[in-house]
Amino acid sequence: MNLTLLRFLLTLTFLIQNTLGFTDYLLKKCNQSGFCQRNRFYATNIQQTHNNYYHIEHDSIRIDTTNNELLGNIIKTVPRDDIQDIEIILPFKLSFQNDWESIRFIIDEKIRPDINNNFLKNYRYIETSKWAFANGTTLNNLPLNVKIVDTIIEQSFFEAGSQLFNKFVDYVFQASDITNDQGSNKSIKITNDFNNVSIILSLDSFQINVYKSDILLVSINDRALFNFEQHRSIEDNFQNVLPEESTYNMFADDFEYSNTDHIPFGPESVALDFTLHKFNSLYGIPEHADSLRLKDTTDEEPYRLFNVDVFQYNLNSRMPMYGAIPLLLSTNGQNSIGIFWNNPADTWVDIHYPNDETSQSHFMSETGIIDVFIFISDRPNQITNSFTQLTGRPALPLLSSIGYHQCRWNYNDELDVLNVQENMDKQDIPFDFIWLDLEYTDEKKYFTWKPDSFGNPTRMLQKLNKYGRQLAILIDPHLKTNYHISDEVEKNEAATLNDKGNTYIGRCWPGDSIWIDTMGEIGRKLWSAFFKDFITIQMPKYIDNLHIWNDMNEPSIFNGPETTAPKDLIHKDGFEERAIHNIYGLTVHETTYDAMKNIYGTSDKRPFILTRSFYAGSQRTAATWTGDNIANWDYLKASIPMVLSNNIVGMPFIGADIAGFDGNPSAELLTRWYQAGLWYPFFRAHAHIDTIRREPYLLDTDTRNIVRDSIRLRYQLLPTLYSAFHTASVNGNAIMKPMFFKYPEIKEFYDIDDQFYLGDYGILVKPVTSPETFTTEIRFPQGIFYDLDTLHATIIDSEIKDVMVNAPIDKIPAFIEGGHVLFKREIYRRSSKLMVNDPYTLLIAPDILSGSATGKLYVDDGETFSYESGEYLDTVVTLVNNSMLKNVVDHQPQNSESLGNTLIDKIVIAVDKNNVNINEITVKVCSETKQVNFEHQEGETSVTIRGLGLHLDEDWEILF
Ligand code: NOJ
Repeated sequence: MNLTLLRFLLTLTFLIQNTLGFTDYLLKKCNQSGFCQRNRFYATNIQQTHNNYYHIEHDSIRIDTTNNELLGNIIKTVPRDDIQDIEIILPFKLSFQNDWESIRFIIDEKIRPDINNNFLKNYRYIETSKWAFANGTTLNNLPLNVKIVDTIIEQSFFEAGSQLFNKFVDYVFQASDITNDQGSNKSIKITNDFNNVSIILSLDSFQINVYKSDILLVSINDRALFNFEQHRSIEDNFQNVLPEESTYNMFADDFEYSNTDHIPFGPESVALDFTLHKFNSLYGIPEHADSLRLKDTTDEEPYRLFNVDVFQYNLNSRMPMYGAIPLLLSTNGQNSIGIFWNNPADTWVDIHYPNDETSQSHFMSETGIIDVFIFISDRPNQITNSFTQLTGRPALPLLSSIGYHQCRWNYNDELDVLNVQENMDKQDIPFDFIWLDLEYTDEKKYFTWKPDSFGNPTRMLQKLNKYGRQLAILIDPHLKTNYHISDEVEKNEAATLNDKGNTYIGRCWPGDSIWIDTMGEIGRKLWSAFFKDFITIQMPKYIDNLHIWNDMNEPSIFNGPETTAPKDLIHKDGFEERAIHNIYGLTVHETTYDAMKNIYGTSDKRPFILTRSFYAGSQRTAATWTGDNIANWDYLKASIPMVLSNNIVGMPFIGADIAGFDGNPSAELLTRWYQAGLWYPFFRAHAHIDTIRREPYLLDTDTRNIVRDSIRLRYQLLPTLYSAFHTASVNGNAIMKPMFFKYPEIKEFYDIDDQFYLGDYGILVKPVTSPETFTTEIRFPQGIFYDLDTLHATIIDSEIKDVMVNAPIDKIPAFIEGGHVLFKREIYRRSSKLMVNDPYTLLIAPDILSGSATGKLYVDDGETFSYESGEYLDTVVTLVNNSMLKNVVDHQPQNSESLGNTLIDKIVIAVDKNNVNINEITVKVCSETKQVNFEHQEGETSVTIRGLGLHLDEDWEILF
């Protein structure tokens, strides 16, 4: 078959697939993936034979006191009958981190045979951290204390001459140091003087036990699934295989859609198992359309992390999706654990719960090194905090970008865009962003505008700007061949190459395309230059309300294997796609972010970038969404655990296409989707090109009213939501937060993924996600919960209680937990920008036992980086003992104008079923006191105080 015909057929397959739903035959199952099959096979066998092929070479162990690392060699021994056994050296490093409680270990392979390839580096990919870690992260390792111990005779601990460890750089263990003990199971105990984390490293096998305060939390390789496939040539392979190993697809790939993969280095996978003791649930490792609590994968497909384009993806599935964050999390109420498997290659993860007290995982990656962090803490949100200290905090977004986004594939021309704006305004429905998908370009050539439809983009931007509105446009990393942009890429040798070292040509939206290689410096420079020219030349009077959407950056390739790039493509810095696959998307959106930041220059505006593909670290520069879902109830339901999963692994700025990308939602589904979607951190409606138009103003009156109210509720809560985003940007805190994150000690919450909290603001929501459902059961923890709308209280006097609540079609089951203060701006405006001069409403929800409540408000200009130099307000409003409400300002900006209006228009105090009893109100500001009036009718659920003239940027007290 000639190549053109083959391409045509593959494109046709993709298009058919896109019309009929996702066909997962395009993706490998574990038993079709060479390394996954091999590692599972090995796992089964090694647990039966109990053979051990790995040990730590005693003489190799040393402490590097400059870097505070324990170094050594793991030796893999492959028995040979004919000649001497083969020994493979796997150098490892182990350290404890100072900034948070964690250990890190890295295992590499010392020698990789030369395969005489001019394009590929001769070592495993070791630069993942460069992309995954926050800029300038240097790990502050703790000095180590090391003792040699015998794990059988525990009491026979003795120190290997502590002066040697403390005084000598690069002390090398003498074999005698270690053999000088009572017998078998020789181990090293490693502690530090700063926290209670310690580990015992077994030397005779390779096993690590991690303890906190002498409680065993994690065992690494206790099932002996550690498998480091050493490099070898095809000729001598069969002598170099362990009896427990399979040779399946070691040097070839027989999967129908990827059988041209050359696999130049042969088998090179790495795998390891982790057992968590006294933990019964595992979470994290998005992206999957599955439950929040990970499922046992015994006899099922493992969870796969491999960034791919999965239009109409399957639900309840472990299949790979657009993004990958390899952080696994768990808590048992006393302790919490995070396992960060920092490897961007194709990765599968088996999960196993052998009993109610144990959680096990088995990570398998196709190539690369083993680079693992084990984070330890009391509470799960502290794990997210540590993880985002390492990989970077979520960016503080533009205030406008947490408003409502109106998107569709496609708004056809400038008039269409402006009509949408006008109609939204006519119906008093606020929005901040309008989006242009693919079709705004001239023949799908990015960095161009379709001349007839978008002849004057600056004019359009200005018209949007008039109401404070923003425009986001799509720019993908595939570039149509033969136009000035792709020509430039080729000329500068900045394209991704095929395995022969020539520019790779694949198919995507524009037809034949090449891919910018942002893994390399040249590609990044060029990509930035394209943005600069595009904006400054094509939009000379550019104003900074243009933002970028990087779609299809997994990358999606219609005729590529598994809808993505062939694994033997070559990237600029000399590594195969195989090694870097899951970070390519991050390099694209990060380069885009840097380019936009550069263009903004002195205006200092924060860029907004939406990316479809992500990896650990993406949160620093982009928001994301759950991709191409379908307008049906199951996808609405699935969106909640998906959004929660990303939130707990440090990438909270995520939403799902409302009300389903593909298909036409019923009015009921659409209503319920807006009611759920208003809580997604990223709140965007989007629809496929073939769907019927469904902008909110087009809906029937009843539906439109409910949708409008939902969007308006989002806008009212923007001050609270923005404060939650700010907290996330400081410590990685989840914005949509699972129940177990707030109450890790309550095991009955471990499975709950259909209700959630909004940050730390006590708003508890359970969206309705099934048709004709007008009541819903909520699992409450102990306390008092006020209906967000009516402020009617429900008191829960046991540790948890399931309560049935009403949820007619116009009702969102949402409550405020006693103990919290919310900040609102209640006046309808067209966009968030137009709200800055509006006053605030404070909603006080007293706790039932102590009569207290507290809430933190963060305000800045919502647009620039000036908060980094102190231009923000941080203030805390507290109710004390139902008798005093006070505001204490923590931080003031130099220029208070940047905050907009800080006046408090009214304070609403929930009084239903609690002990608040207000007879008289005295206000005290700067030692002046005055009496004020309040409104409260018999039987009402709240007391409202108006006209206080108080501001949020000053200290005050109100006495009841
Ligand atoms: C795929 C994206 O997931 C979708 O949101 C977008 O509309 C299409 N690409 C077209 O650009």
